[in-house]
Amino acid sequence: MLNEAFLSELRYKCDIESVVSRYVGIKRRGKILTGLCPFHLEKSPSFTVYPDTQSFYCFGCGAGGDVITFIKKIENLEYMDAVRMLAEQAGIEVPDERSDDLTKNKRIRMLEMNRLAGRFFYDSLMGENGKRARMYLAERGLSKNIVNRFGIGFADENSYSLVNYLKAKGYTNDEIKDAYLGKISQKGYMYDIFINRIMFPIIDLRGGIIGFGGRRLGENGPKYLNSSDTLVYKKSKNLFALNIAKNTKRDELILCEGYMDVVSLHLAGFDNAVATLGTALTEEQARLISTYTNNAVLSYDSDEAGQKATKRAVTIFDKTGIKTKILTIPNAKDPDEFIKKYGAEKFEILLKNTNTSTEYEIQKLFDTYDIENPEQKIEFLQKFVSIMVAISNPIRQEVYIGEIARKLNTDKSVLLAQVKLAVKKNTSYNEKKEINNIHTFIETSPLTKGDFEKQKFPKEALASERIIGYLWNNPDKLTYITEKITPEHIVSEFNRELYNVITERISQGLLPNLVSLSGVVTETAIGRMGEILSYLNEKGIADAEVDEYILLLQEHKNSKSKQDIGNLSDKDFENYLNTLAKNKM
Ligand code: UTP
Ligand code: MN
Repeated sequence: MLNEAFLSELRYKCDIESVVSRYVGIKRRGKILTGLCPFHLEKSPSFTVYPDTQSFYCFGCGAGGDVITFIKKIENLEYMDAVRMLAEQAGIEVPDERSDDLTKNKRIRMLEMNRLAGRFFYDSLMGENGKRARMYLAERGLSKNIVNRFGIGFADENSYSLVNYLKAKGYTNDEIKDAYLGKISQKGYMYDIFINRIMFPIIDLRGGIIGFGGRRLGENGPKYLNSSDTLVYKKSKNLFALNIAKNTKRDELILCEGYMDVVSLHLAGFDNAVATLGTALTEEQARLISTYTNNAVLSYDSDEAGQKATKRAVTIFDKTGIKTKILTIPNAKDPDEFIKKYGAEKFEILLKNTNTSTEYEIQKLFDTYDIENPEQKIEFLQKFVSIMVAISNPIRQEVYIGEIARKLNTDKSVLLAQVKLAVKKNTSYNEKKEINNIHTFIETSPLTKGDFEKQKFPKEALASERIIGYLWNNPDKLTYITEKITPEHIVSEFNRELYNVITERISQGLLPNLVSLSGVVTETAIGRMGEILSYLNEKGIADAEVDEYILLLQEHKNSKSKQDIGNLSDKDFENYLNTLAKNKM
């Protein structure tokens, strides 16, 4: 992380007004400046810069944050690159960059060592000792061609093969250990980490080998062993085979669970398949994918774990604005097995027939609307009908309609008729869709869009935001607030993120500021902070108000585990809905 001294100099020298005005025509209106937002199309200016808080916020699209966030967004840069760009313009030196020369050198040596290791594994596979491994791959249907394309190799049974080779090439024990290619035994011997395994090199977008995944051939150890994070490898930020899939002509990426699924899919002609590296999908990976495509197909294993992982992945993709389709694999445990059994054409058919994540969208309706409330029930049904319209298969439609009719105690035939009518109108609907899209874009702040907790509890989220804003302006009230409000009281994860960082900063005797925040919280959170600061600038928060917000959040937390509705018994759930209904009256 960057140090305070540097960040405060950056904040001081990179005045938001002068930085923004290089990109956007902004005009002064009293204490603030406004202009046409560079992040969405608009005719009247809703983009606002607040010199007082050194923040910006767009009332049209919800983009917001500090000067670094602005540069990140407008120049499409990673956080550190945005910092470097600003520092360079301001003529200040980014700390560590010089002592980074050492690290840079280490990285180069590590990448070179990985490349040699990859080559070594490949040669072992093709060599005399690789016969068994070659047979294994052949049994699994892999051609020599695909082995070459992925650079698949073999770590043999000998515990010292690779480390001896690397030592002979001049690498030290420490270097080998740091690259996660060798370990030191209790007696002080260096030995191989990957033994008797099929080796899948993990290759970054520039073509460098950054790590390995190894599948066990014998009985020892876990089925797959993955490199730990190293100086050149972060498994949360990389995807297996993205180096190949990024060049696909297909307009979506297929995300699967396993190395073998990916290899099989590529072999079958689906060169758009990637996999996470032995972990669940992360937000960083989703963002990485979003730089290539806005369409993902989830093709996880058909077992329960795979289905759970699917739901989680959909949530993450949703946040990133990636549309997801969920592929259900019939009669096979994973894509690899499916293709072996039924062939590529069948998989192509599966792919064509996947729907958007209908179940998931319906679940979201249940989360958003209180169906005991007549008004909300109507809205629920309207939204539901539009979800049904998007499903092309009438049988699937009917299944969902039947289920919802039952759950909402509505006449199935009426609902069915509604859907039919809507489908008929579909042609004109499609034309309108474009316009509607623009409307929803403007009406729902993107910051709220991916934030289900906020959608569900808008009042509480707002109260949380006001409390955060109040703290920001009144750091001396830290104890007053934190005695009553713990992070668990705060509604929505992004607000919690802000609350945690800000309370911690104040308790360390530091004042909160956006530039320091933007390096440690998510982009959504920093945008939210921009929104909060905009409110502070425009309206301000009075002492008296705050007590009401505190009360609201305390009640919210007390009114028993609203977050885990799923765990409530039917009876408790009914009671909960009743209290909700009462509160609304
Ligand atoms: P699976 O257990 O589903 O294996 O793990 P698979 O992909 O079907 O493998 P084969 O077909 O038996 O060879 C899926 C993924 O989970 C991670 C790996 O990334 C694997 O590809 N995994 C699994 C591990 O990291 N460690 C393990 O021990 C097992
Ligand atoms: Mn498998």
